[in-house]
Amino acid sequence: MSPGASTLFASIATAIVAVVGAYIYQKKKRDMMPWTWEEVGTLKKLHLYPLKSGHRLELSQAECTEVGLRQTKDDEKVYQLRDRGLIVYAEKDHEFRTARTYPKMVLIDVAVHDEDHLSIDAPTMRTLYVKIPSKSENKESTIKLHEGEEIYTIDCGDEAASWFSRYILGRDSGLRLGYHDASRRRDLKKTHKTILNYYKHLSNNATGLYQDLTSVLLINQSSINDLNKRIGNSSVTVENFRPNIVVDGPCIEPYAEDSWAWIKIGDAIFRNVKECTRCIMTTINPENATRNSDNEPLKTLKKYRASNGPSKAPVMGINLEVRKTGLIKVGDPVFIAKSQD
Ligand SMILES: *[C@@H]1O[C@H](CO)[C@@H](O)[C@H](O)[C@H]1NC(C)=O
Ligand SMILES: *[C@@H]1O[C@H](CO)[C@@H](O)[C@H](O)[C@H]1NC(C)=O
Ligand SMILES: *[C@@H]1O[C@H](CO)[C@@H](O)[C@H](O)[C@H]1NC(C)=O
Ligand SMILES: *[C@@H]1O[C@H](CO)[C@@H](O)[C@H](O)[C@H]1NC(C)=O
Repeated sequence: MSPGASTLFASIATAIVAVVGAYIYQKKKRDMMPWTWEEVGTLKKLHLYPLKSGHRLELSQAECTEVGLRQTKDDEKVYQLRDRGLIVYAEKDHEFRTARTYPKMVLIDVAVHDEDHLSIDAPTMRTLYVKIPSKSENKESTIKLHEGEEIYTIDCGDEAASWFSRYILGRDSGLRLGYHDASRRRDLKKTHKTILNYYKHLSNNATGLYQDLTSVLLINQSSINDLNKRIGNSSVTVENFRPNIVVDGPCIEPYAEDSWAWIKIGDAIFRNVKECTRCIMTTINPENATRNSDNEPLKTLKKYRASNGPSKAPVMGINLEVRKTGLIKVGDPVFIAKSQD
């Protein structure tokens, strides 16, 4: 090799190493937890939805697991409910059913009855006691969620099926109740390619049980206050958006949560993986199951908060991946770190 050629070769090699190095560094950097945190507010509310589309349970503390919130042993000694661990699905095609189609589902309450049973209540219905299903005794199957994603479920039996069919459809069959024991993670790769390509931090690691996409949803109360100002006299509350975590603080700008890459509350650390795109569900009043006649808050939100992502739906709140599990409590300070890339 001539001296000129070897110098050229060396420079090219150096350039390649530099480019690859920078790429690896960037990729690694994206996933590294930050060292410095900024306090922005406090944890104001903690909500757990035992049944997808059902009524919320308001907690003062929760165990934040990889698949979402769970009651603590201090609060519920014999059995701890998980967020969206139960789901209603159609007997015929195993498609999930929600309050989008059946608003009265938002009034269904789930509680722990004893170590083996849940108690389920709804207006005009007698209490249903459901034996907590186990893989050995109940039928395992798959149900279909958004985009036809197939998710594992354990069926809760015929008595639960007829109770849910009666309350929701007014007849004795048609719907069934499914339970997730948190023994498996979801796989978004087959059905959510477009979303996975667009949101670079979103991966299977962010999935929960029967939540729409990720295990935890966070909303800043200020964002709701701003939305209500825009709507005018509005009865829209943060509960219309069904978040798990509501934060508030005097220094929080509306929608500031969009720019938070990392969030630390109590012992837990979260990664912001996606803005939360909203649907017709938000127009259903969570306390009396009536639909807003003006299609609010969706109508106003569409005017100024449409997503640039694959779905052009309006945005409220952020979808989080749990990167460090742990206990979180109402009143805990909320720390954030902005994106490093
Ligand atoms: C998912 O989590 C596992 C285990 O913590 C980790 O090794 C992997 O890199 C994560 N994958 C992504 C895409 O973040
Ligand atoms: C809100 O309601 C009050 C009293 O009902 C009324 O005076 C006011 O004009 C309303 N504001 C808007 C923005 O609709
Ligand atoms: C939440 O919104 C409030 C009200 O706009 C704002 O003052 C506060 O900074 C926001 N909090 C965060 C953490 O963005
Ligand atoms: C449901 O609650 C909302 C908000 O409080 C109220 O505006 C609406 O009239 C209620 N609907 C019924 C049927 O009670």
